[in-house]
Amino acid sequence: MFFYLRYKSGLRWVDKRLEKVPETRIAPDFLGEVRKLKITFLIDYYPVDKRFQGEPGVSYYVKADRYGVLFDTGFNVKNKEPSPLVQNAKLLGLKFPDEIDSIVISHMHLDHIGGMKNQLKRTFSLSKNDLDLKGITVFVPVRMSHPTADVVINKTPTIIERGILVTEPLPAMDYFTGKILEQALVVNLKGKGLVVIVGCGHQKVQNLLNYLEKLIPSPVYAVLGGVHLPATRSRRCGIGPPMQRILGTGKPPWNPPNRKDVEELISFLKEKKVVKVGISAHDSCDYTIGKFKDEWKDNYIEIKAGGEVIL
Ligand SMILES: [Fe+2]
Repeated sequence: MFFYLRYKSGLRWVDKRLEKVPETRIAPDFLGEVRKLKITFLIDYYPVDKRFQGEPGVSYYVKADRYGVLFDTGFNVKNKEPSPLVQNAKLLGLKFPDEIDSIVISHMHLDHIGGMKNQLKRTFSLSKNDLDLKGITVFVPVRMSHPTADVVINKTPTIIERGILVTEPLPAMDYFTGKILEQALVVNLKGKGLVVIVGCGHQKVQNLLNYLEKLIPSPVYAVLGGVHLPATRSRRCGIGPPMQRILGTGKPPWNPPNRKDVEELISFLKEKKVVKVGISAHDSCDYTIGKFKDEWKDNYIEIKAGGEVIL
């Protein structure tokens, strides 16, 4: 009964907050654009091959012209030192933290901030014994802290560098874990349009794109990351779609995400003429990924730990 009442009141909170989202507009000229964009998938569920470690979390390294953003910091499920994130980055020749100009945390959930212990302490880490982040600016959606980083709680859409923006945190309500605020990273790519990088997609991609449409009058070229659509049980592992179906979908446990939700998102993205799409396997099942691959074919972006895409 407690969860049910809290869920209902949380859904009202989501609606109210979405209504209040300020209708700021950012002119594309003011945002600026980048000429080159490479996204390296450091952590996601599947690895590209055996050299890399996959886990049910997210960490992507976004290189936009000469600026490097680390988007989320993975799960480090086994609390390893060095973490899968640091090991995968090393295999790819990335020098952390020197090649990180800023960090963006999508939301304060364990699979995006380096584990449960960090969630409990409202912090994040790249590894068990964390790196010295040397005062790097970190944009977080809710109150968090870190001993060596400059943590900024982001409340508005923020241009962090020419052509690169963090959205304001949008609301979501999960039946068991409660209220969530999640922000996304957006890069304005010259001659193409907006590239939208999503952590878990609790805020719903539809809400996010409707918000962006009001914010920046530019077409969305690509959407990649978590969309939170574990429409089937698919992989029968403890962490991954079976658990995601119960935790964190924004839908009540008696009505988990289903095939119709997948169809709806595909139709929505097609209507918005989104050219390229990539779905994270950390919070969606193989059925969902297969459906998006079938629709986008050569324009589908594989998201696997150790892989990269140049847009
Ligand atoms: Fe997630």
